[in-house]
Amino acid sequence: MASDSTIPDDTADAEPQVRVRHLNKRDLNRTWEFIKAVFREVNRSTVEYQRPKSKKRFLEVFEEKGIEQLLFVIRTDGKERIVGYAECALAIIGTDNWMNERYFRARDMRPLFVEELAVDPEFQGRGLGTFVLEQLEHLAKLRGCTHLVLEVAENNENALKFYRGRSFTKLDAAIFLAKTVVSDPEILPPRRLKRRETRAVKASASATAPADPKETPPEG
Ligand SMILES: CC(C)(COP(=O)(O)OP(=O)(O)OC[C@H]1O[C@@H](n2cnc3c(N)ncnc32)[C@H](O)[C@@H]1OP(=O)(O)O)[C@@H](O)C(=O)NCCC(=O)NCCS
Repeated sequence: MASDSTIPDDTADAEPQVRVRHLNKRDLNRTWEFIKAVFREVNRSTVEYQRPKSKKRFLEVFEEKGIEQLLFVIRTDGKERIVGYAECALAIIGTDNWMNERYFRARDMRPLFVEELAVDPEFQGRGLGTFVLEQLEHLAKLRGCTHLVLEVAENNENALKFYRGRSFTKLDAAIFLAKTVVSDPEILPPRRLKRRETRAVKASASATAPADPKETPPEG
């Protein structure tokens, strides 16, 4: 087998050549770092996490059966660099998933669920996302699926534009709604106190006051 240094860089020509391979255990840490970096910006603007919530969950996914994880890599300076990642499954994964299997069954749909699709920001807009999607569609065909199904946040505008431009249409989506609850503040506003009257002032005020007729003792 050729040693690493004898394998030519994919960037030797003007444009890099991207290869696809299955993810294996020793890729896990750097793939997680890759996913985190790709979604850093996206996650600032979406209610739901657009990637696995935690590294723990990501590591669990690797152990779960039925999930395919693909890496898109190039060779540069004698080293492999991850530039894309995709994750898909034939069944709805995880026990806490909100997706309803019956929805698809009732419509004779056999989906390939695309759980993740991520392209290195440095490589976006160069056809890599399209390549990832084509690879997923290729897998879908081989596995007898009728649709690619995925979830995207409406305000992830780049991704939404990307999917819409590639014949994805809206199925039925949970839209996150919010209403401002108008309420009074829990804490009352500051209050200015009265000036305290001194005792001398109080006494002189009562001495000069006319006597209460009810308090006058009866004559006799
Ligand atoms: C969505 C994403 C996968 C597209 O990958 P890509 O490599 O940029 O896609 P391509 O180069 O094949 O296609 C570019 C198309 O996507 C759109 N696009 C999305 N992000 C883009 C970006 N940062 N730069 C340029 N074009 C972008 C363009 O509008 C272009 O559309 P067009 O070809 O119809 O004109 C990529 O932007 C990405 O990984 N985003 C962050 C992670 C994410 O949001 N993933 C989807 C979660 S469901």
